[in-house]
Amino acid sequence: MAAQILDGKRIAQDLRTEIRQAVDDRAATGLRPPGLAVLLVGSDPVSEIYVGAKRRDCEQVGYHSIVQHLSANVTQEDLEERIRALNTDPSIDGILVQLPLPEHIDAHRIIDTIDPRKDVDGFHPYNIGRLALRRPALRSCTPKGIMQLLEHTNIELKGAEATVIGASNHLGRPMGLELLLAGCTVTLAHKFTRDTGAVARNADIVISAVGKRGLVPGDWIKPGAIVIDVGITRDDDGKLHGDVVFEEASQHASWITPVPGGVGPMTRVALLQNTLIAAST
Ligand code: GUN
Repeated sequence: MAAQILDGKRIAQDLRTEIRQAVDDRAATGLRPPGLAVLLVGSDPVSEIYVGAKRRDCEQVGYHSIVQHLSANVTQEDLEERIRALNTDPSIDGILVQLPLPEHIDAHRIIDTIDPRKDVDGFHPYNIGRLALRRPALRSCTPKGIMQLLEHTNIELKGAEATVIGASNHLGRPMGLELLLAGCTVTLAHKFTRDTGAVARNADIVISAVGKRGLVPGDWIKPGAIVIDVGITRDDDGKLHGDVVFEEASQHASWITPVPGGVGPMTRVALLQNTLIAAST
């Protein structure tokens, strides 16, 4: 059996069309476009690609967007001061500080400085806490995008066994909370898990968010399972690879995300959705 492809690129395009309509509807009632501010520290080429994509996404849906490109030597105080200024800027609804940050910056304190109502990454302890308490507010973009991919498959999430591989603050943990909220029985596998293959094989939904090429072989996938590949690595030629051995896993799964074109576009559209929500509340 060959899996159906979860085409994040196409689903995200449909969602962007809806967002564009919402922006036009706002304009028709005299409301300004939603505004997103991105802070980029240093000149990491991959971060620059991501930030460029965010700017283009904003343009496509008619958002106001600004990018503050800061030196790698920026101080903690300067960065926090810039965030505080954006917190009170009435033209800005969403603030995103591109990660990773240089070593001398305390990223936790930076995220804590963002007004939770403008935290369109959904990384602030307030927003993670709201999700944990089943009262989600602004939801982390990649898990939110993945939930929309899962909705697309029409599978019953209540009672489904879901295994998330990787327990990072920004991916695995909020992903687990999203799946729990949807009624799944959730297993989070991490670096101390004794037999990750065993917990993957038990799952109706496998989500791998590690960033290790080839981590998930086909024989970890239960027949008919849904496979979501979040881990992205770049080889020396710049080609992107996921955690999942796609050719093998697609022989077992019912649905599978490609890399690229699966989760990535959904993360980007979730950022636009969050910015629209922040502008509307
Ligand atoms: N770096 C890579 N992905 C992301 C993201 O989704 N948000 C932020 N802030 N930084 C990132």
